[in-house]
Amino acid sequence: MIGVLGATGAVGRTAAERLAAFGPGGLRLGGRDAARAADLARTLPAPAEAVRVDLTDPDDLARFCAGCTIVVNCAGPTYRVLDTVARAAFAAGADYVDIGGELAAKDALSGSAVPGERTAVFSAGVMPGLSGLLPRLLANGRPLRRLDVYVGGAAVFTPLSAVDALLTRGPRFGVPMAAWREGAATPLAPLHGVRLPGFPVPVHAWPYLTTEAQALAAACGADEVRCYNVFVSGRIPEALSGAWADVPDVHAAPLETLRPYATQVVDASRLDNADVGAFYVMLFTARPHRGAPAGPTRMLLTAEDSYALSGVVTALAARAVLAGRIPPGVHLAAEALDPDEAATALRGDPLVTELALS
Ligand SMILES: NC(=O)c1ccc[n+]([C@@H]2O[C@H](COP(=O)([O-])OP(=O)(O)OC[C@H]3O[C@@H](n4cnc5c(N)ncnc54)[C@H](OP(=O)(O)O)[C@@H]3O)[C@@H](O)[C@H]2O)c1
Repeated sequence: MIGVLGATGAVGRTAAERLAAFGPGGLRLGGRDAARAADLARTLPAPAEAVRVDLTDPDDLARFCAGCTIVVNCAGPTYRVLDTVARAAFAAGADYVDIGGELAAKDALSGSAVPGERTAVFSAGVMPGLSGLLPRLLANGRPLRRLDVYVGGAAVFTPLSAVDALLTRGPRFGVPMAAWREGAATPLAPLHGVRLPGFPVPVHAWPYLTTEAQALAAACGADEVRCYNVFVSGRIPEALSGAWADVPDVHAAPLETLRPYATQVVDASRLDNADVGAFYVMLFTARPHRGAPAGPTRMLLTAEDSYALSGVVTALAARAVLAGRIPPGVHLAAEALDPDEAATALRGDPLVTELALS
């Protein structure tokens, strides 16, 4: 039995669909609204049961996880959920995959006794997730002089993902306006009104040196990594920085305090989306050292819906765990998935418009 928590959401629905198409065994679909989960269950090509579960209730969570081989969490905000669902999954003898969580969740879980034979994979989405996985194909064993990561577009934020965006503050998440050079964070300016390959309109690229990008630099032997969040206007960065000015310690703030700011982020994303329509681009460019073996220097992935695409990645991670391709322990998807396998699967997925190495 595969348990998908948050199965009715923008991410979870696609994760459930892909896991149902993948085959053996049934699915358990969870959320606070069981009727919505039941509606989804009826559309899937595999046996699926709907279960009402509120992840903030430990008894609900234990019941949801009981009997599952693996629990896939697509509910959030993931930087508040952290290790809550993973612990319940482990207690039920199940493995675990989470759409988010990053180092904060990994640390929280690793700090306690993880059953020796169990596997957990966090940050199995597009960013974090694919953003730290796919560039490994560009490096492909060649130490790089520089690696650039540009990710973004004009998707409408869901309220939960807006809360998570507000929570990406602090050293366990990243350093704003910085690049990684020779093993340290150094200042990097934003790019305004630039035309980037694959992006259909001029964009604004805001440097954010994620912990994922720092790990990527080490994994690819890159002297420098520049990692940007890309937007079509200044609206979303302004909404985020306004919130952070008002609430400097977002991690201590109750959700009720963050929700009005999340609404402003969602509204900003709606205006961006209304201006240019939906698109999502992941662009990676590599500059190998002089004399390095020839190979591709650019990777481009385009899609219309970054949430559904995240659900594809979550399902890929769950399949990898179920197939025993990820060893026991607590991992981040970017470091645990096989980039070649992921790229092959993504090329075959109808949600990916293009995935090209050149
Ligand atoms: N890594 C990435 O690249 C990436 C990309 C996109 C999103 N995300 C993250 O993924 C998470 C989900 O985003 P989304 O856009 O799919 O949100 P969404 O559309 O609002 O869906 C959330 C899902 O979780 C369920 N849920 C919410 N609160 C719950 C609770 N307390 N107990 C049980 N179920 C609950 C919802 O159902 P009910 O309302 O019926 O409970 C729904 O099924 C967010 O935290 C977001 O930041 C990560």
